[in-house]
Amino acid sequence: MKVLTVGGGGREHAAVEALYRSGAEIYAVMKNANPGIIKRSKGYRLIDERNVDAVCGYAAECGVELAFIGPEAPLESGIVDSLEKIGVMCASPTKAAARIETSKTFMRELLENHKIKGNLGFASFDNAKDTSAYIRTVDHEIVVKPVGLTGGKGVKVQGEHLHSFDDIMEYVNEIFENNIGGAGVIIEEKAVGEEFTQMVFCDGVTISPMPLVQDHKRAHEGDVGPNTGGMGSYTDADHLLPFVTAAERAEALDIIQRIVDALRSEGCTYRGPMYGQFMLTADGPRIIEINARFGDPEAMNVLPILKTSFADVCMAMATGTLRNDVEFENKATVCKYVVPEGYGVRSKAGLPISVDEDAVLRCGAIAYYANVDIVDAKLVTGTSRSVGVVGMAESIEKAESNCEDALRHVNGEAIFVRHDIGKRELVQRRVDHMKEIRGVR
Ligand code: AMP
Ligand code: GLY
Repeated sequence: MKVLTVGGGGREHAAVEALYRSGAEIYAVMKNANPGIIKRSKGYRLIDERNVDAVCGYAAECGVELAFIGPEAPLESGIVDSLEKIGVMCASPTKAAARIETSKTFMRELLENHKIKGNLGFASFDNAKDTSAYIRTVDHEIVVKPVGLTGGKGVKVQGEHLHSFDDIMEYVNEIFENNIGGAGVIIEEKAVGEEFTQMVFCDGVTISPMPLVQDHKRAHEGDVGPNTGGMGSYTDADHLLPFVTAAERAEALDIIQRIVDALRSEGCTYRGPMYGQFMLTADGPRIIEINARFGDPEAMNVLPILKTSFADVCMAMATGTLRNDVEFENKATVCKYVVPEGYGVRSKAGLPISVDEDAVLRCGAIAYYANVDIVDAKLVTGTSRSVGVVGMAESIEKAESNCEDALRHVNGEAIFVRHDIGKRELVQRRVDHMKEIRGVR
C-alpha cells in the first residue's frame, strides 16, 4: 500500500518506521530533510507541510491511497479535507474535527455542552480589558493560554511562571499585542496533581487505547524552566504508570470516548490518533488538553512496541473499521530528546550532530531523527528538538539505563538532554506527590 506521510519530526520518523515495518510504500513530505524518514521512503519532497496544494499535488503524483499527518499545523490548514477530495483516505482528522486541538475554547465548550466530566473552569477573551476584569473576580489559581496553536510553548501557570496580577496581565497583554496563537486568550482553572498522557486510535466511533505515557514539558532537570514541546517521556511494561490505577485510566478512556461521541454528534466525526493530556488530581483525571494527533515525544514511546500492523491500524481508522484490539508489547520505554542549547527560549541551531545508529541499537534503544536537516551533505541541528533516543526493556529502570547508554552515541555541538527523565528518583517523586495529593501518608 502506498502511504503519504506528512511531517519531519521525531514523531513522524517513529510513524514512518512503524509503517515501513508493516510493509507500506512510503512517500514523505516534510520541511526539513529528516534522514530517518528519507531512508525508509520510496520518495520524498521538501515543502512547507501547510502548503495544502503542494502536498495534494505530490500525493496525486505518487498515487498514494492513504495519508497520515503527524503535526497539527497542516491539520489546521485543512490538509485532510483536501486530500479526501482527491480520493486519498486519511488516518487523521478533518479541519473541523481537529478544532478539538486547534481551539482550546472549542474543546472546553464541547466538554461543557455535552456535560463530559474532567473539564476545568475557563473563560475566553478577545481583549485585555475584559480578561483583566475577569481575573480580578476569580478566587483560585489560574493558567493563561493563547486559544490557538503555539507548538506547546504558550502556556504560563500561576505560582510557577506567573506570581502576581501584574505578571499575569503582562503575559495577557503580550498575547494580544503579538497575536500569539491568533485567537485570543483563555484563562483556565489551575489543576494540581500529576500529568499523564492517554492516546487512543479512533475511527470516528470506536477507540483502541495506547499505553499511558508521562511527558516532561519543562526544559530543565527537576521540572524547572520554560514549557517546551516535551523533553522526554516514559511508559511502563504494564501500560499503566506507577502513580495511575487501572480505574483512573478507565475514567480517562471514558472521557475520551465521550469526546469522540460528542464530535460525531456535532457533525465532525473524528478519525485518527487522539491525544488526551490529563492531570490526575485528588478528584480524578482532569483534562489539560486534547490533541488531534500523536504526541511528540509520546509517539516514540508507543510506536516501537506496537505489535499490530500500523498500516492496518491506519487503514482501519480511515475506513471506520477499527476494533478495540490494537496490541502493544509489554515493555517499558524511556525517551530522552537531545535538543539544542537554549531550546525553549532561543536555540543555538545549525550546528553539526551525528548519530551512530547501530551502536544505539546495540544498547537496546532506537534513535529517531527530529528537527535536523542535511546541509552541504552534513547533518545539522534546527531550532527545535534534534534526536529522540528511546530505550526499551522489561522495566523503566532498565529502559532508562539503555537510553543513557545509547545517548553516548549521539554527538553534537551545543546540545543538551534532561538526564533525570525516567530515573528512579524522579519516578518516585511522582509516586510520592500523588500519594500526598490523595492524602495517603
Ligand atoms: P499544554 O500546552 O496545554 O499541554 O500546557 C503545557 C503545560 O502547562 C501542561 O503540561 C501543564 O503542565 C501545564 N498546564 C496547562 N494547563 C493547565 C491547567 N489548567 N492546570 C494546571 N497546569 C496546566
Ligand atoms: N508532548 C506534547 C505534545 O505533543 O503536545
